[in-house]
Amino acid sequence: MSHPSADASMSEASTTEAFAILSRLLDDRWTCRKFLAEEVPQERIERLLTLAQRTPSWCNTQPWQVVVTSGRSTERFRAALSEHVLSQQPAADFAFPAQYAGVYRDRRRACGFQLYDSVGITKEDAEGRVQQMLRNFTFFDAPHVAVVTTEADLGVYGAVDCGLYVNTFLLGAQSLGLAAAPQAALASYSPFIREHFGIPDNRRVVLGISFGYADPTAPVNSFRTSRADLDDVVTWSR
Ligand SMILES: Cc1cc2nc3c(=O)[nH]c(=O)nc-3n(C[C@H](O)[C@H](O)[C@H](O)COP(=O)(O)O)c2cc1C
Repeated sequence: MSHPSADASMSEASTTEAFAILSRLLDDRWTCRKFLAEEVPQERIERLLTLAQRTPSWCNTQPWQVVVTSGRSTERFRAALSEHVLSQQPAADFAFPAQYAGVYRDRRRACGFQLYDSVGITKEDAEGRVQQMLRNFTFFDAPHVAVVTTEADLGVYGAVDCGLYVNTFLLGAQSLGLAAAPQAALASYSPFIREHFGIPDNRRVVLGISFGYADPTAPVNSFRTSRADLDDVVTWSR
């Protein structure tokens, strides 16, 4: 019996197909910031989570734990968190960026302007920007949120593993016709989230992912971000 990869042309064809599928998923995925109210069937959420379990991690520790909300649980979380942020100071488990300088400042500003332009918020409209930012805490109206935590003992690499998990989740969602928004903003209230869901103290909140079906008519869903050229990120060492 010949191994599939023994046939060079077949191997080339399946490689091309795999690359095309992955490219399409990466090209088409985007951060959704307005969801429809319609819930995702439980079976489809479980398919997504089962797929995300294939994520690699250091020593195969699989440090991610995920709280997935639906129905009344999403509504309780939405109401409690959006009220909490109005009166309490942020407290994140992981330090937020110290600053965005140089190219990072430029890229951050570019995607920020795309977001604000899409919903007609002008540069002078500071209150409009605050209101848009606060929409993070109502999960952009999503019917589901996945809160991703890592084990404190595993430190930064546990968080890295969770980042990989988040990417598998996002691409998996895209492959299943779902939209999603990874949100570090949710982690800015980590102790509150731990208490709300009864998450043990040894867990660190990495981020939340709001997900569901995209509202195709929402202007905020109309823009797409770009990526830097290879020359800007790769140093060839030969
Ligand atoms: C780790 C991480 C945290 C993010 N946090 C937020 C967030 O709190 N709020 C938000 O609106 N978008 C958030 N995003 C989405 C990014 O802004 C978005 O991925 C980036 O601008 C690229 O755009 P795209 O996802 O549409 O390709 C986050 C993305 C990542 C990967």
